[in-house]
Amino acid sequence: MDRFQLFPVQASTLAPEVDHLLYFLLAVAVFFTLLIFGAIFYFAIRYRRRSENELPHVQHTGYTLEILWSVIPFGLTMVMFTWGASIYFTASKPPNNAIQIYAVGKQWMWKLEHAEGQREINELHIPIGTPVRLTMASEDVIHSFFVPAFRTKQDVVPGRYSTTWFTATKPGKYHLFCAEYCGTNHSGMGGWVYVMEPMDYQNWLSGGAVEGSMAESGKKLFEQLACNNCHKDDNSGRGPILVGLFGKQVQLAGGGSVKADEAYFRESILQPQAKIVYGFEPVMPTFQGLVTEEQLVQLVEYVKSLGPKPGTGPVDNGQKPVPEKSSTAGSTPANR
Ligand code: CUA
Repeated sequence: MDRFQLFPVQASTLAPEVDHLLYFLLAVAVFFTLLIFGAIFYFAIRYRRRSENELPHVQHTGYTLEILWSVIPFGLTMVMFTWGASIYFTASKPPNNAIQIYAVGKQWMWKLEHAEGQREINELHIPIGTPVRLTMASEDVIHSFFVPAFRTKQDVVPGRYSTTWFTATKPGKYHLFCAEYCGTNHSGMGGWVYVMEPMDYQNWLSGGAVEGSMAESGKKLFEQLACNNCHKDDNSGRGPILVGLFGKQVQLAGGGSVKADEAYFRESILQPQAKIVYGFEPVMPTFQGLVTEEQLVQLVEYVKSLGPKPGTGPVDNGQKPVPEKSSTAGSTPANR
């Protein structure tokens, strides 16, 4: 590729922000290193002992000096803290309009799946200028999704979803790594991210044979696994209605509530007894070992497709079900 570079190219909106903070930290470190080493050498010479029986003068505390060397570093570290925290918050909260892509890490490859159904291994195609949100799971051990050009690194931990997001700013091809030692072929667990013009991305998405969108694959699974026997569209099922559930608050048996997000669906499929919906019996069997992480994300994507769409309408207060099935609205949390 290019000639030697000190830093990877900046190819996401986050990259310059992270770099600026890094430059600031470097500058502070360099400044104080020079100051301290300079002072050591200067004082060592200036105040060297000149004769065997020389005694130093008695020194009194210099309060001005002490206050200065306490307040200035405090101020500097507070700047580092607030600056770093603000970038951290930006990096950890995907925008609402982000497109959703799923990633599954396993020894030793990255499997990626687009909502439209396109699957890739060790390659990820994304459009430029659009926020992309990755929901990631691991089939085995801890991996870490790392794209240096995006300044994005996120651990992928078995048993839970982790998310990361980025908006690419430059078309091109960028290295993708696994940044967590995960066994023999860890060093080979990488690939490429292709950043494309939106038109090219649309062409890429529509090209190639696809079995159907993730939601469609999820729907098939939903029927194969007979989920639809209990999760019906009306109140006759033994399980909660899933239509319009995504993003809402769910009342739980035993008090409290939980937001119906990806992690909640995943948990409810694998450990149905963990959070029982208010008004329902703990009768659902576990699907642990019966579905892979890839099938799980398809099921999750299917339930999401039942609405409400992410980012549309007030998802957080959970007071507004989708218009259809409005018979379930109102005061009976058991219907959720
Ligand atoms: Cu996966 Cu290292």
